[in-house]
Amino acid sequence: MGMGRLVLLGFALIVGTVNAAAWMDDQASRSKAYLLDNIAPPGAAKGSVVASPSRQNPDYFYHWIRDAALVMDAIVTSYLKEADSGEKALHEQRLKDYVRFSRQNQTTANPSDYEVSGGMGEPKFEADGTAYQRGWGRPQNDGPAICAITLIRLANHWLDKGRDPEVRGTLYDGKVPTHSVIKADLEFVAHHWNETCYDIWEEISGYHFYTRLIQRRALVEGAKLADRLGDGGAASFYRAQAAKLEPLIETHWNESKGVLVPTFGRDRGVHYKTSDIDTAVLLAILHSTGSDGYFSVDDDRVLSTLERQIRVFQALYHVNQKGYGATAMGRYPEDLYDGNGSSQGNPWFLTTLAVAEMHYRIANRLEARGQFNRSLRNGPFLDSLGQSSIHHFRGADLANLIAKTRARGDAFLGRACFHGVKDGRFAEQIHRDTGFMQGANDLTWSYASFLTAYWQR
Ligand code: NOJ
Ligand code: NOJ
Repeated sequence: MGMGRLVLLGFALIVGTVNAAAWMDDQASRSKAYLLDNIAPPGAAKGSVVASPSRQNPDYFYHWIRDAALVMDAIVTSYLKEADSGEKALHEQRLKDYVRFSRQNQTTANPSDYEVSGGMGEPKFEADGTAYQRGWGRPQNDGPAICAITLIRLANHWLDKGRDPEVRGTLYDGKVPTHSVIKADLEFVAHHWNETCYDIWEEISGYHFYTRLIQRRALVEGAKLADRLGDGGAASFYRAQAAKLEPLIETHWNESKGVLVPTFGRDRGVHYKTSDIDTAVLLAILHSTGSDGYFSVDDDRVLSTLERQIRVFQALYHVNQKGYGATAMGRYPEDLYDGNGSSQGNPWFLTTLAVAEMHYRIANRLEARGQFNRSLRNGPFLDSLGQSSIHHFRGADLANLIAKTRARGDAFLGRACFHGVKDGRFAEQIHRDTGFMQGANDLTWSYASFLTAYWQR
């Protein structure tokens, strides 16, 4: 990191957030540019998103279904926000290319075909769109659900604009068998949610909070879209499946540990993950936000989990004991993946940025609700914000709580950026002792994570 940026960020971290906005705006435009560099770069097919340009140590030059869907979700947001018609048209073309490429993935024979998921849970494809033939943790059934959530946003926007034929053509044709991407993903989710699969970290097969919550969200939003398009039978089927997932999702709360448990029913994969601390749970909340408020950010089970995780990672990494500000967050404490091989796990950009986004979303939600009450479960979160003595937050107390929550979000955002380099580039990880970047350079998902946090701010 260049000294100028370090001093600037150090200053922002120390004096608080008064002049924080300028460097954040700057980081946002850089993040956007670097993210775009990884959409269909030279050597990759149109519509693909590479996880990173890195082709060796590690080789991340693949189209991961999950990473791509999360990155394209940021593109949908950019598209909806964009005022300039030229820029908007470029985003629309990227989205159309992504739709075509995703449909091609769905119909490309791949190793998941002869495993349980009928090919749709395949986690990644070669950047040219051909199947990845070597061994991998497959299937990963969150992918189709995230892709559906992203494209349903696009479909709803196009329907608002009267573009029904395009929606019915490529996105949701309401037919079985289908020729459209959202319908295929929803049919897959609706028929396979009760199967074990690998988690988002690609290491453990079982039933995951992340996957289940995302699947439920895809089915709920999918049902609304199906209704909008006159596919009522499918809508009630999707709703019924979502309703079956709900009691299972509830079982992930462990009252005595005070956390949402990431995985049950492990049947394959690594065995050393025992703490039940996993930031995938927080990502689940962020990636499944919806208007029904199901598992929203201010749910006291979520706040309890969030605070527990921060405390665990604060104590775990040497780099968190150096007074650099808010906690650099990892995936889970027992993690051994160092970004290229197996040695020791590290903090990640995207998880630290997710905690920033959590705080902004909590603040926004409290603002919308206009009141908040202390509970046994959310107490530690409130304590960490210096709010130990207040039980009912209203008026000035609430305003103060909201301001403190946002400021803590800024501290996490600042913390992630502190470990970037001077031109605002983010890799996958941050070395747990030295604080230097580590693992795949220019991880596309890291940039998307900055943008989604920044937009919430
Ligand atoms: C690569 C996966 O992407 C990563 O999540 C995992 O930790 C390592 N392989 C080790 O299995
Ligand atoms: C490893 C991560 O664990 C996984 O979530 C991600 O999809 C891949 N790397 C690609 O970025």
